[in-house]
Amino acid sequence: MKGMIMPDYNTEELGRLESVIEGLCLLPDEVIRETGRAVETGQCPPHLAPFWTLVSADAGNCLDGPLFRKLETDWRVAEYSFYSFFPPVYARIYHQGERPQIWFDGRTRGRVALFRFANGEGLVVKPLQNRREAEIAQRAGEAGVGPRQFPSLDGFLVEELVQGRFFTDLSTAELQDDLLHRVGLRLGSMLLALHNAGTCYNDATVSDPEGRSHLLVRLPTAGQADPSPDCRLIDFGVSVLLDRFPDLEMEEVFNLVRTTPEYRLASRLGLGGSELGRFLAQYRQRLSSASRDEILARDLRIAEEGLREAAARMGAGIIGPFQEGFAEGNDR
Ligand SMILES: Nc1ncnc2c1ncn2[C@@H]1O[C@H](COP(=O)(O)OP(=O)(O)OP(=O)(O)O)[C@@H](O)[C@H]1O
Ligand SMILES: [Mg+2]
Repeated sequence: MKGMIMPDYNTEELGRLESVIEGLCLLPDEVIRETGRAVETGQCPPHLAPFWTLVSADAGNCLDGPLFRKLETDWRVAEYSFYSFFPPVYARIYHQGERPQIWFDGRTRGRVALFRFANGEGLVVKPLQNRREAEIAQRAGEAGVGPRQFPSLDGFLVEELVQGRFFTDLSTAELQDDLLHRVGLRLGSMLLALHNAGTCYNDATVSDPEGRSHLLVRLPTAGQADPSPDCRLIDFGVSVLLDRFPDLEMEEVFNLVRTTPEYRLASRLGLGGSELGRFLAQYRQRLSSASRDEILARDLRIAEEGLREAAARMGAGIIGPFQEGFAEGNDR
């Protein structure tokens, strides 16, 4: 194919690199400490720390020494770290010779890597935050609510970089009533689509206290036939699929608990290990007597709270048109 560049790694080497990456979330403390020591003593270059197990796992034979040395001479690993080995990223960097911009974000789930290619498209690599997140994100992507999902490695998601800005970053000049109505309508209909598919989004953060949002908005361009903004929800890290409800795993109970005001208050007061266990057990009990619709209704409450948070920054005038649109889009 025209423009193809021979990548530096054969299938077998790539397989070994991929298994190192898939093992990263499960590394025992001792291995992490050993890697830290290797970096401190200058044996391991800091950017190759994720790959140190290639040489330390079998220190006697250094079976993977040649592969590790190959990584040492690869400028792409210096620039993009292990993120360049995720299949869709690898294809573009190693096969197509692209040199995307990379930056990092993420708090609760850990480090999120974001790539933007020369044509404006982008990819995001993020560690999974719950066991069913890949499945939930896949469904949301297919429904056009969340970012499109791509093939990934165990423990991570690779998804489309959604174009657009946080809702909370729209300027006063952009916040016309008509636009607010359309954004509200879209949020209402996206939540409805998730609910119809059995997903409780559980994080419809229109604005968090720091002004960050999970609602991304891309304004229509001048002359666009349909004046609707393109809106999408990102981050399904605490979402819960209710397909087995009322059967819920402890992790799902925790995800449902952590976005409640009671839990936020209790954790601010410092909830210890055994108290957390009790809190979860009680909450599980409460959830078992709730209906599926009552659980889904949390999303409406969280969206409402976020809208009020946003209004505190952006002006009370945003509430009316946004809410009207929301009710229209969420009409069940
Ligand atoms: N698919 C995406 N498209 C565009 N931006 C994204 C995407 N996924 C994540 N981001 C950006 O990265 C940030 C962190 O991602 P995410 O919300 O999944 O992780 P988090 O740990 O929950 O972070 P936070 O606590 O800030 O919400 C987002 O706030 C957003 O700015
Ligand atoms: Mg988030």
